[in-house]
Amino acid sequence: MPEYEKEIVKVSEGKRKNSFMNNDTPFCITGIEPLDQKLGGGIPQGNSVLVVGSSGSGKTTFCMQYLTNGAKQGERGVFFTITEPLFKLTKNMENFKFYDKKLIEDGMVNIIDLRIISDRLGLNVEKYSVEDASALLEVLKDIADELQVKRLVIDSITALCYRLESDEMIRDFIFKLGSSLASMGCTTLLTSEIPPVMVGDLKYSKYGIEEFIADGIIYLSDIDRKGDLIRTMQVVKMRGTSHSRSKVAMNISSDRGIEIITLLKSRG
Ligand SMILES: Nc1ncnc2c1ncn2[C@@H]1O[C@H](COP(=O)(O)OP(=O)(O)OP(=O)(O)O)[C@@H](O)[C@H]1O
Ligand SMILES: [Mg+2]
Repeated sequence: MPEYEKEIVKVSEGKRKNSFMNNDTPFCITGIEPLDQKLGGGIPQGNSVLVVGSSGSGKTTFCMQYLTNGAKQGERGVFFTITEPLFKLTKNMENFKFYDKKLIEDGMVNIIDLRIISDRLGLNVEKYSVEDASALLEVLKDIADELQVKRLVIDSITALCYRLESDEMIRDFIFKLGSSLASMGCTTLLTSEIPPVMVGDLKYSKYGIEEFIADGIIYLSDIDRKGDLIRTMQVVKMRGTSHSRSKVAMNISSDRGIEIITLLKSRG
Protein backbone atom coordinates (compact mmCIF):
# COMPACT_ATOMS: atom_id res chain seq x y z
CA MET A 1 0.00 0.00 0.00
CA PRO A 2 1.45 3.43 -0.89
CA GLU A 3 2.48 5.67 2.02
CA TYR A 4 -0.33 8.06 1.17
CA GLU A 5 -3.08 5.42 1.54
CA LYS A 6 -1.48 4.10 4.73
CA GLU A 7 -1.73 7.59 6.15
CA ILE A 8 -5.43 7.84 5.25
CA VAL A 9 -6.17 4.50 6.94
CA LYS A 10 -4.17 5.53 9.99
CA VAL A 11 -5.98 8.85 10.26
CA SER A 12 -9.45 7.44 9.73
CA GLU A 13 -8.77 4.82 12.41
CA GLY A 14 -7.49 7.57 14.65
CA LYS A 15 -10.64 9.59 14.03
CA ARG A 16 -12.83 6.65 14.92
CA LYS A 17 -10.96 6.20 18.20
CA ASN A 18 -10.88 9.98 18.66
CA SER A 19 -7.16 9.72 19.27
CA PHE A 20 -6.40 12.47 16.74
CA MET A 21 -8.48 15.02 18.59
CA ASN A 22 -6.68 16.74 21.43
CA ASN A 23 -9.93 18.05 22.86
CA ASP A 24 -13.61 18.15 22.02
CA THR A 25 -13.36 20.99 19.49
CA PRO A 26 -15.37 20.03 16.41
CA PHE A 27 -13.71 20.16 13.01
CA CYS A 28 -14.58 22.43 10.11
CA ILE A 29 -14.39 20.12 7.11
CA THR A 30 -12.71 21.78 4.13
CA GLY A 31 -14.20 19.19 1.74
CA ILE A 32 -10.80 18.79 0.07
CA GLU A 33 -10.61 15.22 1.27
CA PRO A 34 -6.99 14.26 1.69
CA LEU A 35 -6.44 17.62 3.35
CA ASP A 36 -9.11 16.91 5.96
CA GLN A 37 -7.48 13.55 6.57
CA LYS A 38 -4.05 15.15 6.91
CA LEU A 39 -5.58 17.52 9.45
CA GLY A 40 -6.98 14.61 11.46
CA GLY A 41 -10.56 15.53 10.48
CA GLY A 42 -10.48 19.15 9.33
CA ILE A 43 -9.62 22.61 10.64
CA PRO A 44 -10.48 22.90 14.35
CA GLN A 45 -13.61 25.07 14.42
CA GLY A 46 -12.88 28.69 15.31
CA ASN A 47 -9.30 28.64 14.06
CA SER A 48 -7.89 31.46 11.90
CA VAL A 49 -5.73 29.97 9.18
CA LEU A 50 -3.28 31.70 6.84
CA VAL A 51 -3.40 30.36 3.30
CA VAL A 52 0.05 31.35 2.08
CA GLY A 53 1.40 31.40 -1.46
CA SER A 54 2.86 33.46 -4.24
CA SER A 55 0.83 34.85 -7.12
CA GLY A 56 -1.19 32.20 -8.95
CA SER A 57 -0.56 29.51 -6.33
CA GLY A 58 -4.30 28.88 -5.89
CA LYS A 59 -5.14 30.81 -2.70
CA THR A 60 -8.37 32.35 -3.99
CA THR A 61 -9.55 29.08 -5.55
CA PHE A 62 -8.79 27.16 -2.34
CA CYS A 63 -10.74 29.63 -0.22
CA MET A 64 -13.74 29.71 -2.53
CA GLN A 65 -13.82 25.91 -2.67
CA TYR A 66 -13.71 25.82 1.15
CA LEU A 67 -16.72 28.18 1.29
CA THR A 68 -18.78 26.38 -1.34
CA ASN A 69 -18.06 22.97 0.22
CA GLY A 70 -19.22 24.37 3.56
CA ALA A 71 -22.34 25.91 2.02
CA LYS A 72 -23.26 22.56 0.48
CA GLN A 73 -23.21 21.15 4.04
CA GLY A 74 -25.45 23.96 5.25
CA GLU A 75 -22.70 26.21 6.67
CA ARG A 76 -23.10 29.79 5.52
CA GLY A 77 -19.94 31.68 4.52
CA VAL A 78 -18.69 35.09 3.55
CA PHE A 79 -15.80 36.00 1.25
CA PHE A 80 -14.30 39.47 1.66
CA THR A 81 -12.26 40.40 -1.38
CA ILE A 82 -9.80 43.28 -1.50
CA THR A 83 -7.47 42.22 -4.28
CA GLU A 84 -9.92 41.32 -7.05
CA PRO A 85 -13.07 43.20 -8.02
CA LEU A 86 -16.22 41.20 -7.42
CA PHE A 87 -17.23 40.75 -11.06
CA LYS A 88 -13.78 39.44 -12.00
CA LEU A 89 -13.69 37.04 -9.08
CA THR A 90 -17.09 35.54 -9.86
CA LYS A 91 -16.26 35.34 -13.56
CA ASN A 92 -13.10 33.32 -12.80
CA MET A 93 -14.90 31.09 -10.33
CA GLU A 94 -17.68 30.30 -12.80
CA ASN A 95 -15.13 28.20 -14.69
CA PHE A 96 -14.99 25.74 -11.79
CA LYS A 97 -17.53 22.95 -11.38
CA PHE A 98 -17.55 23.31 -7.58
CA TYR A 99 -18.84 26.86 -7.94
CA ASP A 100 -22.62 27.04 -7.77
CA LYS A 101 -24.36 30.35 -8.50
CA LYS A 102 -27.40 29.14 -6.60
CA LEU A 103 -25.42 29.12 -3.34
CA ILE A 104 -24.84 32.84 -3.89
CA GLU A 105 -28.44 33.53 -4.82
CA ASP A 106 -29.58 31.61 -1.72
CA GLY A 107 -27.23 33.63 0.49
CA MET A 108 -25.18 30.60 1.52
CA VAL A 109 -22.03 32.11 -0.01
CA ASN A 110 -21.77 35.88 0.28
CA ILE A 111 -19.10 37.78 -1.61
CA ILE A 112 -18.37 41.30 -0.41
CA ASP A 113 -15.93 43.84 -1.81
CA LEU A 114 -14.08 45.31 1.18
CA ARG A 115 -13.17 48.40 -0.81
CA ILE A 116 -16.86 49.24 -1.14
CA ILE A 117 -17.32 48.89 2.62
CA SER A 118 -14.26 51.05 3.12
CA ASP A 119 -15.72 53.71 0.82
CA ARG A 120 -19.06 53.62 2.57
CA LEU A 121 -17.34 54.07 5.92
CA GLY A 122 -15.47 57.03 4.43
CA LEU A 123 -12.08 55.48 5.20
CA ASN A 124 -8.83 56.71 3.69
CA VAL A 125 -8.11 54.35 0.77
CA GLU A 126 -4.35 54.33 1.34
CA LYS A 127 -3.85 54.16 5.09
CA TYR A 128 -6.16 53.24 7.96
CA SER A 129 -5.88 54.97 11.31
CA VAL A 130 -6.55 53.05 14.56
CA GLU A 131 -10.15 54.32 14.45
CA ASP A 132 -10.55 53.25 10.80
CA ALA A 133 -9.26 49.78 11.61
CA SER A 134 -11.65 49.46 14.57
CA ALA A 135 -14.58 50.62 12.43
CA LEU A 136 -13.70 48.06 9.76
CA LEU A 137 -13.34 45.33 12.36
CA GLU A 138 -16.76 46.17 13.77
CA VAL A 139 -18.34 45.97 10.31
CA LEU A 140 -16.69 42.61 9.58
CA LYS A 141 -17.93 41.25 12.91
CA ASP A 142 -21.43 42.67 12.38
CA ILE A 143 -21.68 41.11 8.92
CA ALA A 144 -20.44 37.73 10.20
CA ASP A 145 -22.86 37.96 13.10
CA GLU A 146 -25.86 39.08 11.08
CA LEU A 147 -25.39 36.48 8.38
CA GLN A 148 -24.57 33.90 11.07
CA VAL A 149 -21.66 32.65 9.02
CA LYS A 150 -19.64 29.65 10.08
CA ARG A 151 -16.89 30.29 7.53
CA LEU A 152 -15.17 33.54 6.66
CA VAL A 153 -12.45 34.42 4.16
CA ILE A 154 -10.39 37.60 3.77
CA ASP A 155 -8.56 37.69 0.44
CA SER A 156 -6.03 39.03 1.18
CA ILE A 157 -4.84 39.90 4.68
CA THR A 158 -1.66 41.22 3.01
CA ALA A 159 -3.59 43.90 1.12
CA LEU A 160 -5.50 44.76 4.27
CA CYS A 161 -2.35 44.94 6.44
CA TYR A 162 -0.78 47.18 3.80
CA ARG A 163 -3.36 49.79 4.77
CA LEU A 164 -2.63 49.49 8.49
CA GLU A 165 -0.02 51.93 9.69
CA SER A 166 2.10 49.91 12.09
CA ASP A 167 3.05 46.36 13.06
CA GLU A 168 1.21 46.88 16.31
CA MET A 169 -2.02 47.71 14.45
CA ILE A 170 -1.62 44.62 12.27
CA ARG A 171 -1.11 42.44 15.34
CA ASP A 172 -4.06 44.00 17.12
CA PHE A 173 -6.35 43.75 14.08
CA ILE A 174 -5.66 40.07 13.33
CA PHE A 175 -5.77 39.10 16.98
CA LYS A 176 -9.09 40.86 17.64
CA LEU A 177 -10.61 39.62 14.39
CA GLY A 178 -9.54 36.03 15.13
CA SER A 179 -10.72 35.99 18.71
CA SER A 180 -14.10 37.60 18.07
CA LEU A 181 -14.85 35.32 15.13
CA ALA A 182 -13.71 32.27 17.10
CA SER A 183 -16.10 33.17 19.90
CA MET A 184 -18.87 32.96 17.29
CA GLY A 185 -17.59 29.53 16.20
CA CYS A 186 -16.53 30.96 12.84
CA THR A 187 -13.53 29.41 11.07
CA THR A 188 -11.50 31.96 9.10
CA LEU A 189 -9.11 31.72 6.17
CA LEU A 190 -6.82 34.70 5.55
CA THR A 191 -4.82 34.64 2.34
CA SER A 192 -1.21 35.79 2.58
CA GLU A 193 0.70 36.84 -0.51
CA ILE A 194 4.43 36.15 -0.52
CA PRO A 195 7.03 36.51 -3.28
CA PRO A 196 8.28 33.32 -4.98
CA VAL A 197 10.64 31.74 -2.46
CA MET A 198 14.44 31.85 -2.74
CA VAL A 199 16.24 29.00 -0.98
CA GLY A 200 16.50 29.65 2.75
CA ASP A 201 14.34 32.76 2.49
CA LEU A 202 10.87 31.46 3.31
CA LYS A 203 8.54 33.79 5.17
CA TYR A 204 4.86 32.98 5.47
CA SER A 205 3.71 36.58 5.38
CA LYS A 206 4.82 39.99 4.17
CA TYR A 207 4.95 41.53 7.62
CA GLY A 208 6.22 38.49 9.53
CA ILE A 209 3.53 38.94 12.18
CA GLU A 210 0.50 37.30 10.64
CA GLU A 211 1.80 33.74 10.97
CA PHE A 212 2.34 34.04 14.72
CA ILE A 213 -1.17 35.24 15.36
CA ALA A 214 -2.89 32.76 13.05
CA ASP A 215 -3.75 29.33 14.47
CA GLY A 216 -2.77 27.56 11.29
CA ILE A 217 -0.69 27.88 8.14
CA ILE A 218 -1.44 26.12 4.86
CA TYR A 219 1.38 26.75 2.41
CA LEU A 220 0.81 26.54 -1.35
CA SER A 221 3.91 26.50 -3.51
CA ASP A 222 5.63 24.88 -6.50
CA ILE A 223 8.47 22.49 -7.07
CA ASP A 224 10.41 22.45 -10.28
CA ARG A 225 10.58 19.00 -11.89
CA LYS A 226 12.69 19.22 -15.03
CA GLY A 227 11.23 22.55 -15.99
CA ASP A 228 7.64 21.65 -15.02
CA LEU A 229 6.21 23.54 -12.08
CA ILE A 230 4.28 21.13 -9.88
CA ARG A 231 1.87 22.69 -7.41
CA THR A 232 2.26 21.64 -3.78
CA MET A 233 0.37 22.02 -0.51
CA GLN A 234 1.72 21.69 3.03
CA VAL A 235 0.11 22.14 6.44
CA VAL A 236 2.88 23.92 8.32
CA LYS A 237 0.97 24.47 11.54
CA MET A 238 -2.52 23.88 12.92
CA ARG A 239 -3.16 24.59 16.57
CA GLY A 240 -5.49 22.14 18.28
CA THR A 241 -4.94 19.08 16.13
CA SER A 242 -2.32 16.45 15.45
CA HIS A 243 -1.60 16.71 11.75
CA SER A 244 0.69 15.59 8.98
CA ARG A 245 3.29 18.13 7.81
CA SER A 246 4.23 16.34 4.63
CA LYS A 247 4.25 18.23 1.34
CA VAL A 248 1.80 16.85 -1.22
CA ALA A 249 1.32 17.56 -4.90
CA MET A 250 -1.75 19.51 -5.85
CA ASN A 251 -3.62 20.18 -9.06
CA ILE A 252 -6.11 22.82 -10.16
CA SER A 253 -8.68 21.87 -12.77
CA SER A 254 -12.06 23.18 -13.87
CA ASP A 255 -13.64 19.82 -13.06
CA ARG A 256 -12.27 19.26 -9.57
CA GLY A 257 -10.93 22.61 -8.47
CA ILE A 258 -8.09 22.09 -5.99
CA GLU A 259 -7.18 18.46 -5.69
CA ILE A 260 -4.37 16.66 -3.88
CA ILE A 261 -2.83 14.13 -6.22
CA THR A 262 0.27 12.35 -4.85
CA LEU A 263 2.39 12.24 -1.79
CA LEU A 264 5.87 13.68 -2.12
CA LYS A 265 8.74 12.83 0.18
CA SER A 266 7.75 13.59 3.77
CA ARG A 267 9.50 16.55 5.36
CA GLY A 268 8.61 15.51 8.89
N1 LIG B 1 -10.63 27.00 -14.58
C1 LIG B 1 -9.38 26.69 -14.28
N2 LIG B 1 -8.91 25.45 -14.52
C2 LIG B 1 -7.65 25.11 -14.20
N3 LIG B 1 -6.76 25.95 -13.63
C3 LIG B 1 -7.19 27.18 -13.37
C4 LIG B 1 -8.50 27.62 -13.68
N4 LIG B 1 -8.62 28.89 -13.30
C5 LIG B 1 -7.43 29.23 -12.78
N5 LIG B 1 -6.56 28.21 -12.83
C6 LIG B 1 -5.17 28.21 -12.34
O1 LIG B 1 -5.15 28.75 -11.06
C7 LIG B 1 -4.26 29.86 -10.99
C8 LIG B 1 -4.83 31.01 -10.19
O2 LIG B 1 -5.36 30.58 -9.02
P1 LIG B 1 -5.80 31.64 -7.93
O3 LIG B 1 -6.39 32.84 -8.55
O4 LIG B 1 -6.63 30.88 -6.97
O5 LIG B 1 -4.37 32.00 -7.33
P2 LIG B 1 -3.99 33.07 -6.25
O6 LIG B 1 -2.95 32.43 -5.37
O7 LIG B 1 -5.21 33.57 -5.58
O8 LIG B 1 -3.32 34.20 -7.13
P3 LIG B 1 -3.13 35.77 -6.79
O9 LIG B 1 -2.08 35.87 -5.73
O10 LIG B 1 -2.67 36.34 -8.08
O11 LIG B 1 -4.44 36.30 -6.33
C9 LIG B 1 -4.13 30.36 -12.41
O12 LIG B 1 -2.88 31.02 -12.57
C10 LIG B 1 -4.27 29.11 -13.20
O13 LIG B 1 -2.99 28.47 -13.32
MG1 LIG C 1 -6.06 35.48 -5.43
